[in-house]
Amino acid sequence: MARTPIVVGNWKLHKTIAEGLALVTELKNQLAAVREVEIGVAPVAVALQPIAKRLEGTAIRVAGQDCHWEERGAWTGAIAPTLLADAGATMAIVGHSERRQHFGETDERVGAKVGAALAAGLTPILCVGETEAERDAGATFRRIETQLEGGLAAVGGDALLKLVLAYEPVWAIGTGRTATPAQAQEVHAHIRSWLRARYGETADRLRIQYGGSVKPSNAEELMRQEDIDGALVGGASLEAADFVSIVKSTRSARIRPGA
Ligand code: PGA
Repeated sequence: MARTPIVVGNWKLHKTIAEGLALVTELKNQLAAVREVEIGVAPVAVALQPIAKRLEGTAIRVAGQDCHWEERGAWTGAIAPTLLADAGATMAIVGHSERRQHFGETDERVGAKVGAALAAGLTPILCVGETEAERDAGATFRRIETQLEGGLAAVGGDALLKLVLAYEPVWAIGTGRTATPAQAQEVHAHIRSWLRARYGETADRLRIQYGGSVKPSNAEELMRQEDIDGALVGGASLEAADFVSIVKSTRSARIRPGA
C-alpha cells in the first residue's frame, strides 16, 4: 500500500520569528527537489504567518502546534483552528504529550480539537503514546486504544484520511531514547489493525508517523518499517542539516527506486 510519507518538524517553544524565517529559507532551498515526501514545520503561533508567507509557492506545509476546540468566545489565550488557517497553516498538531502532561488535556478535549481542526479544513496530526510506567505495566496498547477512542470520537469513516496519526512514546520524547524500530513497528501495526476493525480498509491508507528522538542516525531504519509513514521530529528539526537529512532518509527508505 503506497502511502506518501510525511515528515513534520515540531519546533515547540524554540526559535524567534527571525530564526524561524532563516531556518525555513534553508529548508526551502535544500528541499525544493524532494517531491516524494510531504514536509511540514510547526513554528510557535506568532511566527505562523510570516513563515507561511516565506514558504508560499513551495510544497512545505505549515502546522499549528495546538488549537482550541471552539471557534470564538471568552477563551483568553486560545487560538481557533480557523485562525491557524487564516495565518496560513494547513495542519495542526493535536494531543501532543506535552499538552496532555503539562496543560491537562484529556482524551475528550483532544477529540473535540480534532473535530474543530477538521471543520476548519486543517489536517490534524493526532498524537498518541504511552508513558514509561504504562509500558512497564504492559498497558501500552490499552492506553493507545483509549487515546484513539477519544481522539477519533468525531471522525467518521469518510474523514479518517483527512488526518495524520503520530505515535510518540512519551519516554522517547526529548530523552535521546528512541523506540527500537521493532518496538515502534509493533505499536504502529497494532494501531493500524485497531483502525481496520473500526474503519475497514481505509486504515491501510492512513499515514502514521513515528516521533520520539528521531535523528539523522536512526531515521532511515525507523522509516524502513512497514507501518511507519514518516516522522514527527522535535529537537532534530531545529537544525536545517539534521531535518534535511531525516527527510532524505525517509525518501530513500520509503520510496522504491523507479516507483
Ligand atoms: P523529539 O520530540 O524529537 O525532540 O524527541 C518529538 C516530539 O515531541 O514531537
